[in-house]
Amino acid sequence: MPEANSYIASLAPYQPGMPVETLVRKYGLEAGSIVKLASNENPLGPSPLALSAMKLAGRNVHQYPDQYDLIQALAQHLGVDEASIVVGNGSNDILDLIARTYLDSGDEAIVSQYAFAMYRLAAQSVGASNIVVPAKDYGHDLDAMLAAVTEKTKVIWIANPNNPTGTFMPYEDLEDFIRKVPGHIAVVLDEAYYEYLDPADRVLTQEWVTAYPNVLIVRTFSKIYGLAGLRVGYAIAAPEVSELLNRVRLPFTSNGLAVVAAVAALEDQEFAFRSFALNRQERLRMQAALREKGVEQLPAWGNFITIRVTDGAAAYESLLKKGIIVRPLASYDMPNWLRVTIGLPKENDRFLQTL
Ligand SMILES: Cc1ncc(COP(=O)(O)O)c(C=O)c1O
Repeated sequence: MPEANSYIASLAPYQPGMPVETLVRKYGLEAGSIVKLASNENPLGPSPLALSAMKLAGRNVHQYPDQYDLIQALAQHLGVDEASIVVGNGSNDILDLIARTYLDSGDEAIVSQYAFAMYRLAAQSVGASNIVVPAKDYGHDLDAMLAAVTEKTKVIWIANPNNPTGTFMPYEDLEDFIRKVPGHIAVVLDEAYYEYLDPADRVLTQEWVTAYPNVLIVRTFSKIYGLAGLRVGYAIAAPEVSELLNRVRLPFTSNGLAVVAAVAALEDQEFAFRSFALNRQERLRMQAALREKGVEQLPAWGNFITIRVTDGAAAYESLLKKGIIVRPLASYDMPNWLRVTIGLPKENDRFLQTL
């Protein structure tokens, strides 16, 4: 057998939320009776406009896809230069591109203790060292992350809001941090849940890439736009940075149907708003119900709530048996916590009653 390089041999693969089909096979439950609150997907499904656009585009799948329409639509929607956008096969693909562009064996990447798992995987897969900085209140400790910078640091990963803990950092703190980081270090600001923030709480972080060309913003169509199964994510970065990422990017990473659907989803801001409003309403209702039950929960800024239970693995298994899939967090070293995606009102009711 060929021998893998040492950092791949010791890599623990990403653990996704359990798919509905797996639970059907495991416990013989009916797919229709299963509630999946495990992967922070949009419970409203995809935008109907995205579905119709894909149907029409089906007749062109014999041709290689072109991303230009999506790049143009994103640039216009975000008010940035087209040359600033890099489209990937989900935002995970972008995170991987960043690691391959900026990290080499022996380099260091700084990551917060409970930050999204992909950062460590992406860095390790290119032989870089992960410098894990202890969390503060389950979120990023920016002062400690700054103090961890060495001459080997090449990338700093930040998720805001963070997954799986749902925490959020004020933009003033974040910008202050960015100002202090040496300009040759890539600061990755992963905003997969950006669109779930109240518009009044949002800052147009995409504008930061002009003032701070070492900042890369990463966003996705998997969450509020409901296209997780299609795999579309993107980076917003200074044109010189985008040009580098595009050198590493494989040709045609996002498939033709996904690109067309993403353009339609972006146009369907009414759907995005409905998704936002449902999430806000149900998150507030779930938070209140959990408080009433005396369940400890972390502050939640995305489309999920992270709660403490006595035994995460046992609670996860008993919920599974009742047809409810949530996310256990032992792989994040949080064995007494579960992450629960905000679903439709009836799905959330089922979860609350069963818990
Ligand atoms: C913080 C964060 N970043 C990135 C991703 C990756 O999303 P995708 O590859 O579907 O765009 C996720 C998915 O859950 C996430 O929570």
